[in-house]
Amino acid sequence: MGVIGAGKIAQVLHIPNIALSDFAELVAISDPRKERLDYFKQRYPGLHTYSDYQELLKDDLDAVVVAVPNYLHSEVSIKSLESKKHVLVEKPMASSSNEAKEMILTAEKYKKVLMVNHSQRFFPHHKKVKEIIDSGLIGTITMVKTMFSHSGPEDWSPTASWFFDKKSAAFGALADLGVHKVDLIRFLTGLEIVECFSLTATLEKKATVEDFAVGILKLSNGGFAELTANWITHGLEENYISVYGSKGTVKVGVCGNDRIDIYVSEPVKFHGEINVKPLYTNEDEYWKTPVIDHFAKVCLNLEPAIVKAEDGYIALLVVEKMLESTKRGVPVSLKI
Ligand SMILES: NC(=O)c1ccc[n+]([C@@H]2O[C@H](COP(=O)([O-])OP(=O)(O)OC[C@H]3O[C@@H](n4cnc5c(N)ncnc54)[C@H](O)[C@@H]3O)[C@@H](O)[C@H]2O)c1
Repeated sequence: MGVIGAGKIAQVLHIPNIALSDFAELVAISDPRKERLDYFKQRYPGLHTYSDYQELLKDDLDAVVVAVPNYLHSEVSIKSLESKKHVLVEKPMASSSNEAKEMILTAEKYKKVLMVNHSQRFFPHHKKVKEIIDSGLIGTITMVKTMFSHSGPEDWSPTASWFFDKKSAAFGALADLGVHKVDLIRFLTGLEIVECFSLTATLEKKATVEDFAVGILKLSNGGFAELTANWITHGLEENYISVYGSKGTVKVGVCGNDRIDIYVSEPVKFHGEINVKPLYTNEDEYWKTPVIDHFAKVCLNLEPAIVKAEDGYIALLVVEKMLESTKRGVPVSLKI
């Protein structure tokens, strides 16, 4: 595997997890910043390094991870697929749903895997919540409430000023953080988002993209979801989801980031807690997540993809429709 873009997410997630994987081998990385190539070469002797990703694509690789600024996701993914590489691309999948569609068509043409790193699907507490919802314990879903917010990209990757510029990021907090929760709503509930109303603003950052977004999403069974994403939450990050059903409620991240709370009202009333060890915190040197192992197994035909390219496309389309709603000041419906 190769990694294109050796910035913060590659440093904490992709590069160490490929290096530690039983299913993949770390062969090459590419980044225009020499100091980043030198840093990883020192850490992983024998690593091939390229300042131009098109040179990396000539190397003997089966797959690449695309972890570059958003505006490059589609160009780099398409060139990688055309070079017969499987692709795991970071979220948001592209700068527009049209670009995402083109990426999907290219993957189909070259018969290669195209996955999007909607990493929240892999968290053990979210997997457990999906099992609980699928078992019918909380009944028919009526409402979802979710928030993902922190103090901003400058506290995450200090050199990544591209996050604040519409030309390189395409979107702000809504597609940076909110897109994870749009995808998670679909993943956990199995429902589609059919209509949305949203408001966004740039309240604190010097940016040409939004740093605040709030949305109401109508679900395909008639229920509703409320979503908040922002870069203006000082102090602890907020990252939670509550799913409310006709018979009960399940909450993750509301009463602590290491537990799931379940409230059931029938056939008997009870409140249960499941303790789950968080996979990582932002303080950890690297995130041990199963995303890379899973991507490698999908490439090796050992298991089906947990995140399909179409999921990345739909999440992006919902974000676009939310922004359209903000601009027009009316609810906007989605046809998927
Ligand atoms: N899934 C997640 O949980 C998650 C978390 C954080 C970031 N991300 C996504 O990962 C992507 C990267 O974010 P980041 O925080 O690592 O940003 P970053 O700025 O820290 O890293 C991006 C890197 O790409 C490099 N780059 C720029 N142009 C390039 C090119 N042509 N070829 C190769 N490399 C190039 C930059 O020099 C930089 O090192 C973004 O799309 C972001 O949304 C995903």
